[in-house]
Amino acid sequence: MSTIVLAYSGGLDTSVLLKRHILDGNRVIAMTLDLGESDGTAGAGASAALNAVRDKALALGAEAALLIDAKDRFIDEMALPALRANALYEGLYPMSAALSRPLIAALLVETAHEYGADAVSHGCTGKGNDQVRIEIAVKALDTSITALAPLREKPLSRPDAIAFARANGVPVPHTVDQPYSIDANLWGRSIEAGVLENPWTAPPEDAYAWTASPEKRPAAPETLVIDFERGIPSQAGLRGAQLLAALNKQAGAHGVGRIDLVEDRIVGVKSREVYECPGSIALITAHKALERLVLTRDELRFKTLLDQKWTELTYDGLWPSPLRKAIDAFNTALAERMTGRVRLRLHQGTCVAEGSSSPFGLYDERLATYGRDDAFKHDAAGGFIHLWGLPVELAARVADAALAPAR
Ligand code: ARG
Repeated sequence: MSTIVLAYSGGLDTSVLLKRHILDGNRVIAMTLDLGESDGTAGAGASAALNAVRDKALALGAEAALLIDAKDRFIDEMALPALRANALYEGLYPMSAALSRPLIAALLVETAHEYGADAVSHGCTGKGNDQVRIEIAVKALDTSITALAPLREKPLSRPDAIAFARANGVPVPHTVDQPYSIDANLWGRSIEAGVLENPWTAPPEDAYAWTASPEKRPAAPETLVIDFERGIPSQAGLRGAQLLAALNKQAGAHGVGRIDLVEDRIVGVKSREVYECPGSIALITAHKALERLVLTRDELRFKTLLDQKWTELTYDGLWPSPLRKAIDAFNTALAERMTGRVRLRLHQGTCVAEGSSSPFGLYDERLATYGRDDAFKHDAAGGFIHLWGLPVELAARVADAALAPAR
């Protein structure tokens, strides 16, 4: 008999898993996280729904059922580093799911320590990214803990899961025949499977819950100002989880953050994924605009490469890697100057930075202007061009001379 901490969502698969662990003679501690998954929609009833998940785990025989509010940790430890890295996988996806898994793993391990458990368990299948992210993160935190993936070892078809549930007193949720597989937290909502599996099929409107459809978006644009203090965003005094919840609603109402992506998974397959990420897209748009104002050209060019690497490592489940941490340290150093404000304009599915200012801004109007106050040294440009182009000029001259006799 072992003690197992199970990452429990309350859905059919993890409920069946919980029951199976118990029938196999184990003690089960069910762990459910609140990562703000309802905070793009009305939000009301979210805590009631999560409390019902906890009650369900206890009714199924879990020895303890924890409901952990991990929203602040998710923002501080996962989302803000992602914002500093402008993380967009394959240029588009803000990585909401990818960011949550290492935190889920950390909480599984912490709970295992608290309850003296020797194993943790999750409901991921063998085809996805999430198993990779969770298991590598668990190993990096405590090699003595076994990570169990029963649905990977023995895949469970929908009909078999329902049959097992009926036979073992596991309530079958009415969401069981919902057309999509959904994962959500404050950084975004992901929608996959069902009709989306055909990449030629346009995502039906019913796939979306956080973003307004084109005919429901306001005709008039709306502007909002994001303030940054050393890289930490706020809006009208709202920060962290509250800021994201507010931005998801505000930008979502304009249809901002709909993403439709044929994406490359870690395990080698391409998959078609649809996302709604209004809040994170708004923040990344604002953050990039501030960086363009504050960072030097070399910093920006170099950071683009590091952002890409950070994003790939995190997507690929290598969150605990030393390189990812080192890039974070670089980003944290630059964030010392990331103070200022950006005005965003939301309109008909677009989010555009239309103004930026910062005490660290390197933009100098007197150097940039074409007006009378121009302070730029025009007469220095000729000499500069001569020296800057010298290597190219020399190479061209030498090539010409070397080729001449052959002609
Ligand atoms: N493809 C995305 C990712 O790997 C989303 C995964 C969503 N996970 C889920 N269990 N539905 O980050």
